[in-house]
Amino acid sequence: MAEAKNTILIGIAGGTGSGKTTLADKVVDSFGRDEVSILRHDNYYKRHDEMNYEDRSKLNYDHPDAFDTELLCEHIKELKKGKAIQMPVYDYTIHNRSDKTILVEPAPVIVLEGILIFAEPSLCELMDIRVFVDTDADVRILRRIVRDVKDRGRSLDSVINQYLTTVKPMHEQFVEPSKRRADIIIPEGGENAVALEMLIQRVRKHLEEA
Ligand code: C5P
Repeated sequence: MAEAKNTILIGIAGGTGSGKTTLADKVVDSFGRDEVSILRHDNYYKRHDEMNYEDRSKLNYDHPDAFDTELLCEHIKELKKGKAIQMPVYDYTIHNRSDKTILVEPAPVIVLEGILIFAEPSLCELMDIRVFVDTDADVRILRRIVRDVKDRGRSLDSVINQYLTTVKPMHEQFVEPSKRRADIIIPEGGENAVALEMLIQRVRKHLEEA
């Protein structure tokens, strides 16, 4: 099937706790499911059934190799061809993919969010608009502590240890430099009403033309 010319992929990147997920969700929620679909790089974390929980909890989840980006690229290409895909679902509480999948239908606009989506050239070149959410590290770690303890079943000690051993160094090595690939850099994520409105207008314009 020929590639649908009327599909655009909007990448929303940013460090952990930057507010990129909130921004992506607000864009998606402003439109219908048949207009905008969402993909999350986190759902493509590699499966590690061969390890026990203890060993999985020690892995570096902030390196580009932690993701099955090849599968994500294939899924994007399928969606651009007008075909639906089954997006994997990731369960942070067990550090592994769950057995569930989510059906993602093709749409004129696809939003993709993730910390490292600009760090992978093969993925980056599939995007039509690249947005980087830039939020101070102190705000990001505070948000992360609250979220990981409340929603992801982590202890305070484990969050601090993971942040210092992998999250922070990988952010400096991969996430921060990938900001150079962005078309637009926005301070704070979902709380930036001006940036949100601009993105919504851009999506609306594309939908009218498509
Ligand atoms: O939602 P957010 O962008 O913060 O999600 C990415 C983060 O999830 C990464 O910084 C990574 O450290 C974390 N993660 C984790 N445990 C896993 C998989 C990812 O803490 N099993």
